[in-house]
Amino acid sequence: MSTLTPHPLAAGIPAPSFVAPGDGSSGAAGVAGVNASSATASSPAPAARAPLFDDIPVLITGGAGFIGCNLADHLLSLGRRVRIFDNISRPGVERNLTWLRSRHGERLQLRLGDMRDPHAVEAALRGVGPVFHFAAQVAVTTSLTDPGADFDINARGTLNLLEAIRRSPRRHGLVFTSTNKVYGHLEDVALAANGRRYEPADPELRHGFDESRPVSFHSPYGCSKGAADQYVLDYARTFGIPAVVFRMSCIYGQHQCGNEDQGWIAHFLLSSLAGRTITLYGDGRQVRDALHVDDLVDALLRAQERIDRLTGRAFNLGGGPARTTSLLELMDLIRDLNGAEPAVEFAEWRAADQRYYVSDIRRFCAAASWTPRVSLQAGVARLHRWLVENTRPAPELAASTAG
Ligand SMILES: NC(=O)c1ccc[n+]([C@@H]2O[C@H](COP(=O)([O-])OP(=O)(O)OC[C@H]3O[C@@H](n4cnc5c(N)ncnc54)[C@H](O)[C@@H]3O)[C@@H](O)[C@H]2O)c1
Repeated sequence: MSTLTPHPLAAGIPAPSFVAPGDGSSGAAGVAGVNASSATASSPAPAARAPLFDDIPVLITGGAGFIGCNLADHLLSLGRRVRIFDNISRPGVERNLTWLRSRHGERLQLRLGDMRDPHAVEAALRGVGPVFHFAAQVAVTTSLTDPGADFDINARGTLNLLEAIRRSPRRHGLVFTSTNKVYGHLEDVALAANGRRYEPADPELRHGFDESRPVSFHSPYGCSKGAADQYVLDYARTFGIPAVVFRMSCIYGQHQCGNEDQGWIAHFLLSSLAGRTITLYGDGRQVRDALHVDDLVDALLRAQERIDRLTGRAFNLGGGPARTTSLLELMDLIRDLNGAEPAVEFAEWRAADQRYYVSDIRRFCAAASWTPRVSLQAGVARLHRWLVENTRPAPELAASTAG
């Protein structure tokens, strides 16, 4: 199933019992599990209440997805109410919803709907407070085959949300997840092979790329996410909407429906566990920084807590220089975890694949007193354990690259 194809749930096929009939069919999508102030017996006892928001629900667009469901679980565990808006188009994410519902019962509100439908977006915003906007077409390859749909979801969909926020009588803090792809292919960065990885020739880049790097949109996906990124910053500037943009590199962790290019750490682990051959595009020396989703959740909440101070700013978010790996080095880590060499084959470089990208995270660390805590080795081991314990068939590989 393509990432652009609505899931059967959103196409009117019988839904799990917690999805109210009619959800997802139109802009008037109903709320499933509304009024969830009363936690069910299946909900864990709330820990300390989150200090950052009052009792109003938090809206997470794309909340069924990897990052969204981790954030939702965290907030719900703190006793917060959460409303998820999602069209369940990403294969496998319905399992995340089932998991959330089993843990938190009716305190989780679900609205099936599409970012492309301004009425559905406006309805989803009614009655909520802070907003985290994650819903997106996340694959470069899908954006190449259907640039129109990619634009409609990522650019137009984000504008739909911004317009709904602008018209809302309530002040909604907005955190939007953009991508390092807004910085383009980075061809101008001189690199040298150093063992099993590339390193930048310029020692100044030891901290990674900071936010002063000029944006340069490559691929329809880069353009649609980049446009959304710029719209969010401009709505903060022009209309005074409190909003922050995270330009993220690789995020990984539990509940990721990893495929070859989006969620590649999970994809490599899943492939190796299933005994499948892993294809490395290029020579495998390309380097990324990777951030565990638990550290990202912490950063997202810190951004909302400080939204009035941080509004209008974009931050590069990732594991930073202390959490980098080349693809070849990741193979070594996987070998150590599995006790066997993963089967690897090589293929041609893919278009627009950055050879080296590491986030300079110092700006957000300073602005929000944030520090990533999970090391790459510990995080990958944690994800490996989670995948072993939650073995499930690998989702169809719908498409490629995000980030
Ligand atoms: N995971 C990463 O490494 C990474 C890196 C950089 C940026 N991002 C960004 O973070 C966000 C979340 O990423 P993720 O990894 O959780 O992705 P994900 O694919 O797991 O989650 C995206 C969710 O959005 C939903 N969705 C897609 N199209 C929709 C539409 N038209 N209307 C409503 N819902 C729709 C999907 O069903 C899915 O549940 C995305 O905006 C992505 O671009 C992620």
